[in-house]
Amino acid sequence: CKVHKVCVLPGDGIGPEIMEVATKALSIAGAKEGEEFEYKYCLIGGAAIDATGKPLPDETLATAKESDAVLLAAIGGYKWDSLPSAQRPERGLLAIRAGLNAFANLRPAIVPRQLADSSPLKRELVEGVDILIVRELVGGIYFGQPRGFGTNEKGERIGFNTDVYSEPEVERIARVAFEAARKRGKRLCSVEKSNVLEVSQLWKEVVIRVGKDYPDVELSHMYIDNAAMQLLRNPKYFDVIVTGNIFGDILSDEASMLAGSLGLLPSASISGSGPGIYEPVHGSAPDIAGKDAANPLAMVLSAAMMCRYDLSIPKVADRLEAAVNAVLDAGLRTGDIYKDGTAGTRLVKCSEMGAELMKHL
Ligand code: NAD
Ligand code: IPM
Ligand code: MN
Repeated sequence: CKVHKVCVLPGDGIGPEIMEVATKALSIAGAKEGEEFEYKYCLIGGAAIDATGKPLPDETLATAKESDAVLLAAIGGYKWDSLPSAQRPERGLLAIRAGLNAFANLRPAIVPRQLADSSPLKRELVEGVDILIVRELVGGIYFGQPRGFGTNEKGERIGFNTDVYSEPEVERIARVAFEAARKRGKRLCSVEKSNVLEVSQLWKEVVIRVGKDYPDVELSHMYIDNAAMQLLRNPKYFDVIVTGNIFGDILSDEASMLAGSLGLLPSASISGSGPGIYEPVHGSAPDIAGKDAANPLAMVLSAAMMCRYDLSIPKVADRLEAAVNAVLDAGLRTGDIYKDGTAGTRLVKCSEMGAELMKHL
C-alpha cells in the first residue's frame, strides 16, 4: 500500500462543502482498494487573502510541489470582487496553474444517460455526447504582456491585455490533444479566430504542422464563433477540441449545458511531469454557498481523474465513477439537476448526495 500525498485546496464559497464529500469518498474508495491518502490542507483564493494577505501563499505552492497531486475545489466570491486585479482570489488560481506548469487542461463533457432529459437541449441532441475539451491553461490572454490600465492619446482611460502564444506553447498543447484524440474517436477540432487574429493564425499553422505526426487523427478547424454555435446545433460532431485559454474557458461552461449542469463537469490540469491540479470546471457558486445546495459530483469526478492520471490507481477512479453513476440511478438530484416532475427522482442537499454516494463505494 502506498500513501498518496494530496494537497487539498478547499478554497471559497461551496468549495469546502464539496471538498468534504470528495475527500471522504476518496478515502473510502481508496481503503477498499488498499490505497491510503495523506491530505495536506492549504489556503488559496479568498480564504488565503483573509488569513495571509496573499491569494497564493508561498507555503501552499511549496506543499503543492511536494505532493503527488493537487485537489482544488473553487475560489472567489463577492467579498473580494472589488480588490485590484493583482490581489484577487482568481490570481491565486492562475498562479498555482503557472507555478506547476499545468498547461494542459482536460475538460471532459459527457452526458450521463440518466440526465439526457435535464439538459435544456433536446434529448436526441445530447444523448451519447462525449467531448473532451483540451484547453491551453498557462498562456494566451490570461498571461500575455503588456497588460494593465493606461491613457490613450485622447486622454481617455483604457484597459488592455495581450493574447499571445509562442510556437512551442501551441505545439505542446497540440500534442496532448492529438495523443488524446488517438486514444478516443480520432477526430480533433482546433478552435481559434484565425480570420481576424495573428495569434490564431500561428496557432492554426502549428496545429497543422503537428498534425503531420498524427495521420490517423482527422483534423478540422473552426472559428470560435461558429464552434460556440455548432456545440449546441450538433454536439455529437465533436470528439476532441483543442483551443486557447479564453476560448476553452467559455466553451467548457457552454458544454456543461449539454449535460444539464456545471456541477457535473470535472477537469485535470496537467504538465506531464510533476503534480497535476484536479478541479471542477465550475466556480465557488457564491449564490448558493453555505446552503448545502451544491452539487458535489464534479468535485468527486475530479478526484477520480486524479486517481487515473496522476496517482495511477484506476480501480479507485472506477469506484468513484461507479458510485456517481449509482446515485444518479437512484434518482438523487441536487437543485442544479433536479427537474420537477421527473419520475423516480428526488431533490437532495449536497450532504445527502454525499452520504448516499458513500454507501455505493
Ligand atoms: P460559478 O461557476 O461559481 O457559478 C455559476 C452558476 O452555476 C451559479 O448559479 C452557481 O450556483 C451554479 N453552480 C456552479 N457550480 C455548481 C455546483 N457544483 N452545484 C450547483 N450549482 C453550481 O461561476 P460565477 O458565478 O461566474 O463565479 C463565482 C466565483 O467563482 C467568481 O469569483 C469566479 O471568479 C469564481 N470562479 C472560480 C473558478 C475556479 O475556482 N476554478 C471557476 C469559475 C469561477
Ligand atoms: C475556470 C475559471 C477560471 C478561469 C477563473 C476563475 C480564473 O473560470 O477555471 O474555468 O478562467 O480559468
Ligand atoms: Mn471558467
